[in-house]
Amino acid sequence: MSQSRLRLDKYLADMGLGTRSEVKGMIRSGRILVNGQRARSADIKIDPDEDEVMCDQMPVTYVHYEYYMLNKPAGVISATEDRHEKTVVDLIDAKQRKDLFPVGRLDKDTEGLLLITNDGQLAHQLLAPKKHVAKVYYAKVAGTVTEEDADIFANGVVIDETLTALPAKLDILSVTDKECSPVSEIKIEIYEGKFHQVKRMLEAVGKKVIYLKRLSMGPLCLDETLACGQYRKLSEDEIQMLKSSVGEK
Ligand code: URA
Repeated sequence: MSQSRLRLDKYLADMGLGTRSEVKGMIRSGRILVNGQRARSADIKIDPDEDEVMCDQMPVTYVHYEYYMLNKPAGVISATEDRHEKTVVDLIDAKQRKDLFPVGRLDKDTEGLLLITNDGQLAHQLLAPKKHVAKVYYAKVAGTVTEEDADIFANGVVIDETLTALPAKLDILSVTDKECSPVSEIKIEIYEGKFHQVKRMLEAVGKKVIYLKRLSMGPLCLDETLACGQYRKLSEDEIQMLKSSVGEK
């Protein structure tokens, strides 16, 4: 099915060939062909499914949406751009679109699954509080996490006077006692995404998260073959699965 038409300068700028004024310069200097003809103006309308656009003899194919799964490393911030710090979007060097953003935030020191896309509607649905999209984390925690803590989490742990967490599922994977300073490994499934949610939940039962990694978001699971800092495109199945999990077609 034919997508809606868009101006040639927007087409080229969306595909990262330059700013709107830079691509206008490229059009003026004759570097852009549309269906084999030199483009004479920036405002001609392009049908991305039908028209063939070339820049310096190289085809420029239009991509509406991109979806990447990143295994976020620690030390990188969940933002689109920053003057001082490296962002998760900076890591996606294969991106074609320049309007990618992370779906939600992981703390700078958190690792694991982060979806990066320019599909605002899907992002909005996945982050909508009323959708209660499940997020699963693996954590190492200083202290002994107990079945009592799991019960408290199952009933909704009180974080402070203003915030009680939604009921969450806590699995204790192991507790090792290293010279009187125990470390617990846990898996925790939460259905909301407040600021420092997991760290604050553990703090509320007197424990400190020392390592945190997100394993899944809704039906999307981190591809464990991705090393920290690596990414890949989502498969069509993964995109469809995510969309249908939030009631999108
Ligand atoms: N909870 C946290 O405390 N930090 C994160 O990065 C994600 C969930």
